Amino acid sequence: MDYFCQASPIVIDGCIYLLTADGAVMASPTKMEYRMELERLSKDELAYELAILGVTTVTTVEEMRKTLRRMRKLAKHGSFVRPAHPFTVAVDLAALTGLSTEIKALLDTFVGSRASSEYKKLEAKLSHATGRLGRVVASTEEEKEQVSRLLVAFSEYSMTLRSKAKHFARSSTLNASTVTALEGMSGPSSSSEAEDSDTDQGADGGIGSMLSLLLKLKPDLVTDIRMHDIRESVNGVAMDLSHINRSGTVRGYTGRSQLKKALKGADIVVISGGISKVAVMTRENLFIENASIMEEFARVCAEMCSEALIDIVTNPVNSCVPVFCETMRKLGTFNPTKVIGVTTLDLMRISTFIASMKGLDPRKVTCPVVGGHSLLTMVPLLSQCNPPINFSEDETVALFNKVRIAGEEVVRAKAGNGAAQIAMAYSLAYFIFDQLKAKRGKADVVQCGYVANNAHKTKYFATKLLLGTDGIIKDLGLGKLSSFEQEKIYEAIPIILRDVDTAERFIR
Ligand SMILES: NC(=O)c1ccc[n+]([C@@H]2O[C@H](COP(=O)([O-])OP(=O)(O)OC[C@H]3O[C@@H](n4cnc5c(N)ncnc54)[C@H](O)[C@@H]3O)[C@@H](O)[C@H]2O)c1
Repeated sequence: MDYFCQASPIVIDGCIYLLTADGAVMASPTKMEYRMELERLSKDELAYELAILGVTTVTTVEEMRKTLRRMRKLAKHGSFVRPAHPFTVAVDLAALTGLSTEIKALLDTFVGSRASSEYKKLEAKLSHATGRLGRVVASTEEEKEQVSRLLVAFSEYSMTLRSKAKHFARSSTLNASTVTALEGMSGPSSSSEAEDSDTDQGADGGIGSMLSLLLKLKPDLVTDIRMHDIRESVNGVAMDLSHINRSGTVRGYTGRSQLKKALKGADIVVISGGISKVAVMTRENLFIENASIMEEFARVCAEMCSEALIDIVTNPVNSCVPVFCETMRKLGTFNPTKVIGVTTLDLMRISTFIASMKGLDPRKVTCPVVGGHSLLTMVPLLSQCNPPINFSEDETVALFNKVRIAGEEVVRAKAGNGAAQIAMAYSLAYFIFDQLKAKRGKADVVQCGYVANNAHKTKYFATKLLLGTDGIIKDLGLGKLSSFEQEKIYEAIPIILRDVDTAERFIR
């Protein structure tokens, strides 16, 4: 909407109006439109609301709220006369400018319904802000212009808040978040060794079944889960999951014949079908087994859900992603902003290891991992840790080694019964929640993933990615590297080149 910045906004009956470009009079958000829940206001905001009623002596937040409630009752019964406005125009405008920045930042990350506490907080802040703005009696041209600018900003915030909440409500009820878990439900590794060792492994479940459980527990984000596997037992697992007392559907699809049906119109497709690595297997053998599955999935995705976001979990990720992407490219449906090789387990592991080394809460540590998803290609960027942490040379080397061999250690410890599944499913679920939140408009969602990227002449590379409503909206690259990290990137490049070349030779 284009606004014409009128020199003096019109205030009628406590409502503020401004002129739009086409000359129409447009009501700004007002205290009449919003509820100002006192519990949602900060101490400064409460102090202002009290000061305009002539109270400046109360100091604790709880007392401020109590006093305000009492004063409001008095005002309602007409037994209260407002004192003269106690603030200068300059003080009001400075406070409102700060408030405008604060509201904008909150709004940028807001994802939720009208019932959410974030919505109510923003609603209360906007009510407070527009009320305060309405009391400013600007006299100079400069002040009037500032008031108009703030008015426009608050009007836009109001519209954005409502439209985000509306969009959220609509997407929650219209099955917008269809996740097709294309994958390994109940399955043990398909290697004969694994099957021989435990024929009852169907009950253990792989990444797909655990992922589906975690998705099922988030009905506000995921409303329809479709699980596909070549094993018929997938139907039983889907039925089992559907008995969990959360809204949303879970359906099972089995075999090639039902793959198209499973994928039709999906919003997000998670591919973890195939063979998982066992102790005796090399990544090359794994590739031979899983490449044709990638090719088949790419063909069906191209036909049934070419707009979907595709998350590729199946190993070796460094080669499976190029097989998938190049197959789609051949079919003319490849969109590089939509296909991501999932490396989130590496990120979760490194933050856990860092936290344990430094005695921190692992949920509060983040560290990007770039390059690729294999022993010598994953490069954790310890220099970009959040919060910033200093590591000695020995600590750096220890962390690099620990995260790089973590997968192999799990494979060995599971003694032939597959690879990492539980931590993988957990990190994957949170990766998907991030994608869904970004899809619904949450700003500043940054993840790492292995994607089509030629910055290092390898065609594919894992980098930092900014996610948005339509997949990857910006490749954030690697950022500033330490000399140790740069050296590790140089070491990773020829290996990724070889992995991509393997994929391209398979496609040809
Ligand atoms: N990206 C990562 O960080 C990461 C981490 C761990 C594991 N993985 C990989 O994820 C994949 C799955 O691991 P898992 O432990 O769940 O394995 P799993 O053996 O438990 O499950 C794989 C499932 O895929 C099914 N499958 C095989 N071919 C299929 C096809 N054509 N269509 C549909 N389904 C098919 C199998 O029946 C089986 O149920 C493996 O390739 C593994 O190496 C990746």
